[in-house]
Amino acid sequence: MTYQIGVIRGDGIGPEIVDSALQVLHAVAERVGFAYELIELSGGAATYERIGTPLSIEDLERVRAADATLKGPVGLPGVRLPDGTEAGLLGGVLRGGLDLFANVRPVLAMPGIKGPLRASPGSIDYVIVRENTEGLYASRGKGVGNDHAVIDTLLVTRPGTERVVRYAFELARTRNGAPLDGVHRVTCVDKANVLRSLYFFRQIFLEVAAEYDDIEAECRYVDAAAQALVLEPGHFDVIVTENLFGDVLSDLGGATVGGISLCPSGNIGSECAYFEPIHGSAPELVGTGQANPIGEILSLAMLLSHIGEADAAGLVRSAVTAGLADGALQVERSGSVAGGAECVTRVVVAGLSK
Ligand code: IPM
Ligand code: MN
Repeated sequence: MTYQIGVIRGDGIGPEIVDSALQVLHAVAERVGFAYELIELSGGAATYERIGTPLSIEDLERVRAADATLKGPVGLPGVRLPDGTEAGLLGGVLRGGLDLFANVRPVLAMPGIKGPLRASPGSIDYVIVRENTEGLYASRGKGVGNDHAVIDTLLVTRPGTERVVRYAFELARTRNGAPLDGVHRVTCVDKANVLRSLYFFRQIFLEVAAEYDDIEAECRYVDAAAQALVLEPGHFDVIVTENLFGDVLSDLGGATVGGISLCPSGNIGSECAYFEPIHGSAPELVGTGQANPIGEILSLAMLLSHIGEADAAGLVRSAVTAGLADGALQVERSGSVAGGAECVTRVVVAGLSK
């Protein structure tokens, strides 16, 4: 069997970091012995400028049909819609359009990283499951207003919440528990003290939690959770939260483990999935040789697990971790990496054959 892998190279540093991840894919497929075909798709700000939409319907359908898609960051600050929002983004089209309800964002302290918390490897190891089709982002493209006032609406539905909460509990069953105490735990992050929608989210969380008596369930308000992710990150195992909260907390989490340039993610639904780093397209880094492809390469590892190539995923992760541990990969405090994408590709590909 030959896997069909969609590729969206994206804008800014997207093409160079996706290229790096594809070289790693080539090498690991050879090593493990599986076949794949790349389906090149065009998406992002440059696509919008060319065809007037950030992704054609045909390419959207190709993402749906692929076994999985690897995506680079998209969007350029200068390419905007008349309402002022960015025109090149694909979240609304892909996450909403393909009903990819779980945005899975691991936060892991890796060796050799000079993160602000100086966390030892593995002492921070949690996954944020960000609800990905509703919440405040349901208002994307739909905000109403005039010169005087604008309203965006935060949507929480019962089925939308149930499925993402269930995803979080199922994920917790596959993990090792929180680093601090080994407890399998799902934390609901909300603002149930202030907003009715998020009180509803919490009630549904508690209903679903009752089906999982093997997993500890707890709830935290988002402000307190933000503090705890800095002060006691080892307490967390799986977090499930509203879309915008998940967006913000995943950058906070990324910062605690050395920067968002290192952080992968998966957008997962019942039909299909795509994988991307959580950072943006950083157009200012194009041509500087400083783009860091580690988040993209670790997104490839998530893709490989998702399609059932767990051994290949493990090899890629180990090659990255080993490179960081032995100093062959040097991540700066800014998140950039010495030698840029070229160096990382070389180190990771070499590490695959060790
Ligand atoms: C992310 C990104 C996107 C988001 C942006 C680029 C629209 O920040 O994937 O976290 O807000 O979802
Ligand atoms: Mn974000």
